[in-house]
Amino acid sequence: MLSLQEKDRRYLWHPYTQMKDFAERDLLLIDRAEGIRLIDEHGRTYFDTISSWWCILHGHNHPTIKAAVIKQLDRVEQVLLAGTSHEAAILLAEQLVLLTPPNLTKVFYSDNGSTACEIAFKMSIQYWRHVGQPQRNQLVALERGYHGDTIGTMSLGGTPEFHGAFAGMLFDSHRLPSPYCFRCPYGLAQASCDCECLQPYVDLLAKQGEQIAALIIEPLIQAAGGMIIYPVKYLENIVALSRTHGVHLIFDEVATGFGRTGTMFAMEQAGVSPDFLCLSKGLTAGYLPMAATLTSEEVYQAFYGDYQEGKTFFHGHTFTGNPVAAAAALGSLQVFAEEQTMAGLPEKIQRLHGRMARFAELPWVGDVRQLGMISALELVKDESAAPYGFNDRVGWPIYLAGLKEGVLLRPMGNVMYLWLPLSTTIAEIDEICERVWRVLSDPQNIVGW
Ligand SMILES: Cc1ncc(COP(=O)(O)O)c(C=O)c1O
Repeated sequence: MLSLQEKDRRYLWHPYTQMKDFAERDLLLIDRAEGIRLIDEHGRTYFDTISSWWCILHGHNHPTIKAAVIKQLDRVEQVLLAGTSHEAAILLAEQLVLLTPPNLTKVFYSDNGSTACEIAFKMSIQYWRHVGQPQRNQLVALERGYHGDTIGTMSLGGTPEFHGAFAGMLFDSHRLPSPYCFRCPYGLAQASCDCECLQPYVDLLAKQGEQIAALIIEPLIQAAGGMIIYPVKYLENIVALSRTHGVHLIFDEVATGFGRTGTMFAMEQAGVSPDFLCLSKGLTAGYLPMAATLTSEEVYQAFYGDYQEGKTFFHGHTFTGNPVAAAAALGSLQVFAEEQTMAGLPEKIQRLHGRMARFAELPWVGDVRQLGMISALELVKDESAAPYGFNDRVGWPIYLAGLKEGVLLRPMGNVMYLWLPLSTTIAEIDEICERVWRVLSDPQNIVGW
């Protein structure tokens, strides 16, 4: 009889994982979870410091969300959303519209972050056709941006280390420099710069502004691209530039949405609003797959007409607006209200930032970047802050040492980060930071030091 670990090796292929790494080594087999702790097959516990891929908000196994899911299962578990509707999808759409800026009035559901983004730029392209500007068919994105792993979102991605194999089949789009302040290509300092890295966008708009349909951007933090946290002024400026040339704005808040950055949505910190808002991950607090693309009345109306006018948006996924997922999302919003989650965040954020600031003393930590419940450390090769290469694989010994300390860390390339659930208590923040300090302050866990 094969053990679960043996069956895993025999039958499973894991995402973003070199399976050979686990040929001899068991992977972390999670048996159950409570709050922000994962419990493995041997009963050992690990802090879920990355919110199970950035989606857990209120902790695992939350009674309110569980109850909402069970209640929905007693009614209907799945029904198509094409020409059919159900209460959970309707009530959730209403709440999302109320939570987001007033210009966003319509909700289009899907089931993961990549599709939320694909839908946004497909809607934009089709919108411009409907309003008689079909020449607006080009898209703009940022270096180090990440919007998913489908062909469309890879085409707008800026992480060749993940998507290089498919370069030949991706469609053309414009790419702007990343606002990567730690390694500013202009040699400027964040506090005093004038966002000189936006000059290529100014030039592009001057030359081809009338051909650009939309710009897609992750507000305030390029997450998968290396936890690149950039200043509010950059977001304000890129929005203003886009607006002067009529370019649609797509905000990808798949990762940042629902409180992670300290405000319900990151865009609030710049007081800006997009034409399309992409949500997933925290939408259901991590309980079930679901995504939403919100857009404006103006966009919606451009698709509205007699069927024969050919304005229908022919896009849909089987599980679009799934009732159980929608119930989980409503359950999560109920928790936000009942537990006053957002009101509790400032104190937690201050504690986290305070605890993580000391990591700057370590010679292998080149930069400490913090935003809300996110804290990221860019590891460097030497005192001159030379960057590690992708194949140096600095994250691997840190991941292994983290497991020994009971913290699940999953550095991305040269960036070690915490992406804490909003429910993490002050005591847990202290405990996690202490354990991470033990991992990171030991040069044995740092490649080359
Ligand atoms: C900002 C952002 N957009 C889109 C995605 C893609 O989401 P999914 O993995 O659900 O397709 C991610 C995933 O990490 C993300 O961080």
